[in-house]
Amino acid sequence: MKVTVFGIGYVGLVQAAVLAEAGHQVCCVDVNPKRVADLQAGIIPIYEPGLSALVQQGVAQGLLQFTTDGAAGVAFGELQFIAVGTPPDEDGSADLKYVLAVASTIATHMASPKVVINKSTVPVGTGDKVKAVLTTTLKARQQDIQFAVVSNPEFLKEGAAVADCQRPDRIILGTDNPWAEKLLRELYMPFNRNHDKIIVMDIRSAELTKYAANCMLATKISFMNEMSNLAELLGADIEQVRHGIGSDPRIGYHFIYPGCGYGGSCFPKDVQALIKTAEQTGYNTQLLKSVEAVNNQQKHKLFGFLQQHFAGDLQGKTVAIWGLSFKPNTDDMREASSRVLMESLWQAGATVQAFDPEAMEETQRIYGSRADLKLVGTKEAALQNADVLVICTEWKSFRSPDFSVLKQQLKQPVIVDGRNLFEPSRLKEQGFIYYAIGRGDSVMQF
Ligand SMILES: NC(=O)c1ccc[n+]([C@@H]2O[C@H](COP(=O)([O-])OP(=O)(O)OC[C@H]3O[C@@H](n4cnc5c(N)ncnc54)[C@H](O)[C@@H]3O)[C@@H](O)[C@H]2O)c1
Repeated sequence: MKVTVFGIGYVGLVQAAVLAEAGHQVCCVDVNPKRVADLQAGIIPIYEPGLSALVQQGVAQGLLQFTTDGAAGVAFGELQFIAVGTPPDEDGSADLKYVLAVASTIATHMASPKVVINKSTVPVGTGDKVKAVLTTTLKARQQDIQFAVVSNPEFLKEGAAVADCQRPDRIILGTDNPWAEKLLRELYMPFNRNHDKIIVMDIRSAELTKYAANCMLATKISFMNEMSNLAELLGADIEQVRHGIGSDPRIGYHFIYPGCGYGGSCFPKDVQALIKTAEQTGYNTQLLKSVEAVNNQQKHKLFGFLQQHFAGDLQGKTVAIWGLSFKPNTDDMREASSRVLMESLWQAGATVQAFDPEAMEETQRIYGSRADLKLVGTKEAALQNADVLVICTEWKSFRSPDFSVLKQQLKQPVIVDGRNLFEPSRLKEQGFIYYAIGRGDSVMQF
């Protein structure tokens, strides 16, 4: 089938590459000329495991192409995906200007029937707004061309995006249009062979399903972070509690890891956006507001440990940081907990000496060159002459370090672990001072 994807970011590019792998012809459109030029030259603008090979394969097979030409994109596919960003507005609600700009491009150039599929995460009611743009523009053009608007939210996880798109848990189709449903069932047939993963519902329910899913996951994280703070005060170990509750099949082991707060391009903005959507209906989402407040507080946790350890005086200290991306296997720094930490450290007069396997270029892009930010080539180099090591992201390569090297290189044997990677008793034996999340009052007193 011929498909156009507007927006070549984490969602659009991965979806396009996976559709091409399944044999569909995909034209990707983006307004960022550098991104398009890079892709045309074989440079993949984001890090996502398996993506580079898949994009190269799609291009080599002539199934995947990239352009900045919106009109050409509209002419290409009967199916038109919108996968552009929906960043938070000043008040936290989702900013729809990119989504509506694409709707307008489609409406301005379409000359044949189109199914417009919204993959971006958008507030309930956006489908109606996209429809209104299409209807009004076509009317102004005095064109009566058939179209349908579908909500098809994306559930991929960054870091495992390719695998998630190749084997989705579910494919939500928000539509009441049989023509659109038939085309999308055909498009997704290669991904729907093992059992039927397609769930058809009305467009508003599809839009809300995406927010409900992300808000549920964010709630699990904030719940565990709240429990971890309590565990510290009560002298309990949250890791033992986690095992204890995870064994209940109604709770399960997934997504109940305590840490230094959730980040990324989705949870923070989607929780905020649903709070705003609810407010517009006059409903006060008490739970979601608390989820957000707990998370914002948790993002200051690691800085709190450092202040505690250095008795409030971080001036002139060098802090080694392992992990800058908001989670492993991505270079995405949006809303990363490391950013809150680094910005607090700089304000307190400390220098950051950091290593991340993928996100250093992005860190450099965000913060530029500054004397108090040193990005180094290895995790060992980050330790040299540092006063303390802080772990912000649980990359696999950080999980089994050589503790003797670590001890030799750090000025003081202090580790602040935002992801609970190590066993406190083992570190204690080796003479480390170890701060971790919710690991009991006893753990903190060395
Ligand atoms: N990143 C994720 O893990 C994830 C997962 C599920 C859903 N989502 C949702 O998917 C949407 C896209 O997220 P993302 O992370 O891929 O964003 P992104 O910022 O990585 O990419 C968005 C792309 O859209 C392009 N763009 C903006 N306006 C455009 C226009 N008018 N025409 C063509 N291209 C345009 C931008 O240049 C950019 O390349 C968001 O709504 C997000 O909430 C993201």
